[in-house]
Amino acid sequence: MEKLWGGRFQGESESWIETFGASISFDQRLAKYDIQGSLAHVKMLQKTKIVPAEDTQKIIAGLTRLNEKLENSELVFTIENEDIHLNIEKMLHAEIGPVAGKLHTGRSRNDQVATDMHLYLKDTVNQVIQQIHHFRKLLVDKAEKHVETIMPGYTHMQHAQPISFGHHLMAYYSMLTRDQQRFEESLKRIDLSPLGSAALAGTTFPIDREYTAELLGFASLYENSIDGVSDRDFILEFLSNSSMMMVHLSRLCEEIILWCSHEFQFVELTDSFSTGSSIMPQKKNPDMAELIRGKTGRVFGNLFSLLTILKGLPLAYNKDLQEDKEGMFDTADTILASLPILAEMIHTMHINEAVMQNATAKDFSNATELADYLANKGIPFRQAHEIVGKLVLSCIQNNHYLQDIPLSDYQKIAPEIQADIYEILEAKTAIERRTSFGGTAFTQVSQMINQAKKNL
Ligand code: ARG
Repeated sequence: MEKLWGGRFQGESESWIETFGASISFDQRLAKYDIQGSLAHVKMLQKTKIVPAEDTQKIIAGLTRLNEKLENSELVFTIENEDIHLNIEKMLHAEIGPVAGKLHTGRSRNDQVATDMHLYLKDTVNQVIQQIHHFRKLLVDKAEKHVETIMPGYTHMQHAQPISFGHHLMAYYSMLTRDQQRFEESLKRIDLSPLGSAALAGTTFPIDREYTAELLGFASLYENSIDGVSDRDFILEFLSNSSMMMVHLSRLCEEIILWCSHEFQFVELTDSFSTGSSIMPQKKNPDMAELIRGKTGRVFGNLFSLLTILKGLPLAYNKDLQEDKEGMFDTADTILASLPILAEMIHTMHINEAVMQNATAKDFSNATELADYLANKGIPFRQAHEIVGKLVLSCIQNNHYLQDIPLSDYQKIAPEIQADIYEILEAKTAIERRTSFGGTAFTQVSQMINQAKKNL
């Protein structure tokens, strides 16, 4: 097959090598954006009179037909035509004849592919933002139902202090809020037109870059044509923001997996988010949560892959850059699939409130309450800490808990201790008294939720 760049070549290309160099198997996903970019470019060629209107009109009609065919899945891409740009151009030739050759005036595949990627990522990031926003809404909904659901809060995976389950969920809300902000902030670096950078140095034709940027809906332009064709920071940033978001999803998944276990039994997932075992009839596995935790690995991998591709790459375009696409698509597909699955999983999961609360009934997560109580009576906190530590040790040796110690025994250790200590030691009291800003007190959690609802 005749190559669009074949003039300088004498030998025939070999198909197995061609296959290695081709990107059409994956960059065909950019077809819609490629046609959009070409339409903007050709309209600019007409406006600037670089190409006569009679020709540009034919090109516009041809591209429009190709777009229709694309929407009807009628375009057939071939490896011989290497990538999406050459495939579309070849198809345009088939539609309108040699005048199609005028489309590439003042343009290169280098600025073309960068433009496609910017358009694709702008669409994708906007979808991601919407999905995070939806997830945050569902989290707030769930948290609102569980402001007063008591659970043990953990540090080092050991019972630490009792907390509100709603408070715990709202911590994920905060993480996702930052994720959404990061994606939103990244838009300013995505919403930038490289079109008109040409191969690297700009062009001798009197092009109008502002006009093409405006037609494509870009907010601004790359200021440096060499940067315009070489920059992949906007993709790195997407992969990095996605990785950080996946860290959050994965941590939540890990907790759900623990909470579903026989040892915890804090929550139960609906059947649609679980699967059974082919051998063990009793199993109900939290597969979807495990998968999201697992997929986090590939999202990190895609970030590292592109970081490595870019390091040491001289300016300007190098074919290495073709390797920026599959990881980006894979990350986009992965996060766009994970977000709604996890959001719905949380939304529909059943919370075993009694089990959660019971987990705080027979433990020492109220030890801080006793220490704070003593400190409030004027005993230096360090000394109070020591006293309570010894009490905990003796409770463990006697197989009971702080709330089981008789008042007379307490008063032998510290005469300051009064009968009100038993209420102080209750999980609910411990929570209700943590009214510091952002703390786990039901009143504080309700305030967080109200603020979140306002922000959403
Ligand atoms: N398929 C190429 C890519 O994805 C398009 C740009 C090709 N440019 C070039 N000078 N060979 O990067």
